[in-house]
Amino acid sequence: MSLLSHGAAPRWTAVLLLWAALCCLFVPAVTVKHENFKTCDQSGFCKRNRAFADQVSAASSYTSPYAIVAPSVTFKKGQLEAIVLKTVKESGERVPLPLTITFLESGVARVTLDEEKRAKGQVELRHDSKARKERYNEAGQWALVGGLHPAEGAALVETTDAGYTKVVYGKGGSHQAIIRHSPFSIEFQRDGETQVRFNERGFMNMEHWRAKVEKPVEEKKEGEEEKKEEEKSEEPQGEDESTWWEETFGGNTDSKPRGPEAVALDISFPGYEHVFGIPEHATRLSLKTTRGGDDAYTEPYRLYNADVFEYEMDSPMTLYGAIPFMQAHRKGSTVGVFWLNAAETWIDVTKKKNTVNPLSLGLKSSTDTQTHWMSESGLLDVFVFLGPTPQDLTRQYGELTGFTAMPQSFAIAYHQCRWNYVTDEDVKDVDRRFDKFNIPYDVIWLDIEYTQEKKYFTWDPLTFVNPDKMQKQLDKRSRKLVAIIDPHIKNTDNYHVIDELKKKDLAVKNKDGNQYEGWCWPGSSMWIDCFNPAAIEWWKSLFKYDKFKGTAHNTFIWNDMNEPSVFNGPETTMPKDNLHHGNWEHRDVHNINGMTFHNATYQALTERKRGDARRPFVLTRAFYSGSQRSAAMWTGDNLAEWAHLEASLPMVLNQGISGFPFAGADVGGFFGNPSKELLTRWYQAGIYYPFFRGHAHIDTRRREPYIPGSPYTEIITQALRLRYQLLPAWYTAFHEASTTGAPIIRPNFYVHPEDEAGFAVDDQLYIGSTGLLAKPVTKEGADSVSIYIADSQPYYDYFDYTTYTGAGHHTVPAPLDKIPLLMQGGHIIPRRDRPRRSSGFMKYDPFTLVVVLDKDGNASGTLYLDDGETFDYQSGAFIHRRFDFDGARQILMSANLVADTPSKLALRYVKSMEKVRVEKIIIVGAPRAWKDKDEVIVMEEGQKESKRKKAVALEYHDKVGNKAAWAVVRRPGVGIGRGWRIDFGEKVEHEHHGHEH
Ligand code: NOJ
Repeated sequence: MSLLSHGAAPRWTAVLLLWAALCCLFVPAVTVKHENFKTCDQSGFCKRNRAFADQVSAASSYTSPYAIVAPSVTFKKGQLEAIVLKTVKESGERVPLPLTITFLESGVARVTLDEEKRAKGQVELRHDSKARKERYNEAGQWALVGGLHPAEGAALVETTDAGYTKVVYGKGGSHQAIIRHSPFSIEFQRDGETQVRFNERGFMNMEHWRAKVEKPVEEKKEGEEEKKEEEKSEEPQGEDESTWWEETFGGNTDSKPRGPEAVALDISFPGYEHVFGIPEHATRLSLKTTRGGDDAYTEPYRLYNADVFEYEMDSPMTLYGAIPFMQAHRKGSTVGVFWLNAAETWIDVTKKKNTVNPLSLGLKSSTDTQTHWMSESGLLDVFVFLGPTPQDLTRQYGELTGFTAMPQSFAIAYHQCRWNYVTDEDVKDVDRRFDKFNIPYDVIWLDIEYTQEKKYFTWDPLTFVNPDKMQKQLDKRSRKLVAIIDPHIKNTDNYHVIDELKKKDLAVKNKDGNQYEGWCWPGSSMWIDCFNPAAIEWWKSLFKYDKFKGTAHNTFIWNDMNEPSVFNGPETTMPKDNLHHGNWEHRDVHNINGMTFHNATYQALTERKRGDARRPFVLTRAFYSGSQRSAAMWTGDNLAEWAHLEASLPMVLNQGISGFPFAGADVGGFFGNPSKELLTRWYQAGIYYPFFRGHAHIDTRRREPYIPGSPYTEIITQALRLRYQLLPAWYTAFHEASTTGAPIIRPNFYVHPEDEAGFAVDDQLYIGSTGLLAKPVTKEGADSVSIYIADSQPYYDYFDYTTYTGAGHHTVPAPLDKIPLLMQGGHIIPRRDRPRRSSGFMKYDPFTLVVVLDKDGNASGTLYLDDGETFDYQSGAFIHRRFDFDGARQILMSANLVADTPSKLALRYVKSMEKVRVEKIIIVGAPRAWKDKDEVIVMEEGQKESKRKKAVALEYHDKVGNKAAWAVVRRPGVGIGRGWRIDFGEKVEHEHHGHEH
């Protein structure tokens, strides 16, 4: 957000209303302010490392100056240690860099390189800085939660004399790392084939500590330029020192007390044409290259969490969050790297035709992807994943950084937000209107204007007179409130929060060690430093119901501006030489900062009231690896333009494969006023965002679903109802994500990893494991879409069962009132069909199962259910069923997926769901043989003998044109938490009584 768009705190007055209305009449064309953000050339270490890479690439002969000291190599219990020496060309100095390679039980390898002198504190800092001397080594404490156990089975195979060290690890010894000593490089192999290579191109660079030498300013002599050009073809020349000791950008000077300290490494993926990941960027799923050429970027992908005002499409520019996890994919294999570093990071991506004989190519692509990672400071700390499947990658990455938290069920329903609902009466009015128009919604949001002068934890007494009453009204319909709380604390008198922050000394400090003061929504502000455990404790205290008065059990929190956004700071954030707890410089921890804040809020919400443990809901804008454990994210301030709608799909898909799947974009677009068509299409797409929220800027016109009128309101309502109908499928997908790391919405390559033609497809998505394939309309005026089908299964239109078969593109009609959604044959999809006002009201609703037969007449699916609110599911209080339709036996069965003996809580939960039944079973692609059948036999476990088996009517609908035949069993009456079977066959197998399978 810019200062211009929202300078002074607006009050809800008639004048403002008028002003806002006038603003709406004219929405200027908007574009990002490039000059506010650095290019690689303007970021000293990026420029240096890129230039170094160029020199190395151009040099006729070049040897990387890093080498392992062979006798230093030790190997114990899955961990290799050694000293790498960097030889400084100019001085001949040898810089010791301790290397650790840990081979983890999961088959992942972790490579860590430190710098001995800094680690031992044998360096001097300039400007009397109090900053820590070490390279930042605590990123793992924030990002990692498990998966770190070294593999006892990893074995050292060869060493020393051969000039390399070989370690065999991974399942069945299928992986090996070949660590070459001089120059230092590593090849990671799976089944004898190299998948990932470190320092292949010699771009590795660890800027060692050195004292500043004051050099006399040299005058440029004639002919100097030419000399430089000549030198380029030889070895890389002396380093560019101009940004070693100080850097200025946009009027801010970074004092850089530790001098140059970048880490960089080239990582190659031989035979891999596609790389994905490293969010957050407004770009395609399959990452474009970054060093010029056709349809390529010229800037590297940047990861430096920032509040980028009116961000642009199709760009490697940084955005609000950073996940330095990249995966490379080809037919038959997915591998990846996780670059655990929280400092500003840039990543160049290039592709190269390889020289592999095409006949011996096998599954490999004839293209290699080469990447170059550059971070400003910190350790070199990289995890290497050798797959071989995309599922292995998301699971292993999730084991390290945590799986997405299981949200409350309301959190995956629809959220209604705008900047701002301006009074408590306004909130209540919006709430009533949703009811009046029969539109379901679960959550209404309050942006910053609810506070008194942007003082968080307060309510504006003139506009939010009775928050309790407001929340009671919401609660009546089982609805929730989300209120915003930002990390900047207004620096003013008579405000208990700033008083405590100052007194307890819990704010981020400036380079001189004084509490840092900057500018944000409230004007002069200070920032809570959540790296400090004491700050987290204090933060928790602020959310207690008796402290944050006016909040209730149905109030949840939105953490915004936590990059952190500082209006008068360099690149709209904090100076890099600011200091955090432990005297780490902001530069070291920048990308983690936002996560520490939303983590603290998450903890605070779990402890609001003793004995009342409900799952928190926190939305964050800034994020890092690990954020998935405690928050949902959204893609920030997009624009009400078709291009932004389109870009939201690859962005949200990318979040999913990068371990943070609870993601969405502002439906309708934040800035500007969408046309009614765009708004409608956005809702039709938004129902597929795992996090589904409509939001709008303060200067926009109101656009709640009931505003656009007929037919738009009805069409939007239908879209919302579709989301609500499929909530059981969504909840099951969330459960899968929270236990396996699988994305909630999935791109084509993830579901069909062997289908080369579909690797780059990023404008359509699968919902969890349901086989539901959606292709949202993102083009103005479209009345059809082209859906790409990767396999030979039949795909059925969700609404009318039109059948699409055959790999390739299919045209699916998509007039405005039609949502293109297909069901892949082979799945059983759980739904709840009764329209309700909110998801809370669906808790005990009956289920519909849609059995979508595959080409062999089989189908299966799962359903996960719990109380949707508490943590009891962690003690087994859930229902987890598997449904199978066996085409050969003509039997549909429900089996229990819970293996353990049920706990008390589990039994209590199952009992509470006893009356919840299946009310309808629809079989799509029903066999012709059922035409004359009018009954099926239903058998259920746990019923009295007399009730165990009964006949229920079957209704068969013949195929019409290309619309598949379908059948329906109404009111089979079987319990959703029970074992049962339904026999569709000709003969009734009387000897088989219902039992669990
Ligand atoms: C910036 C956020 O991105 C936006 O969603 C919000 O409305 C404003 N801050 C005001 O809080």
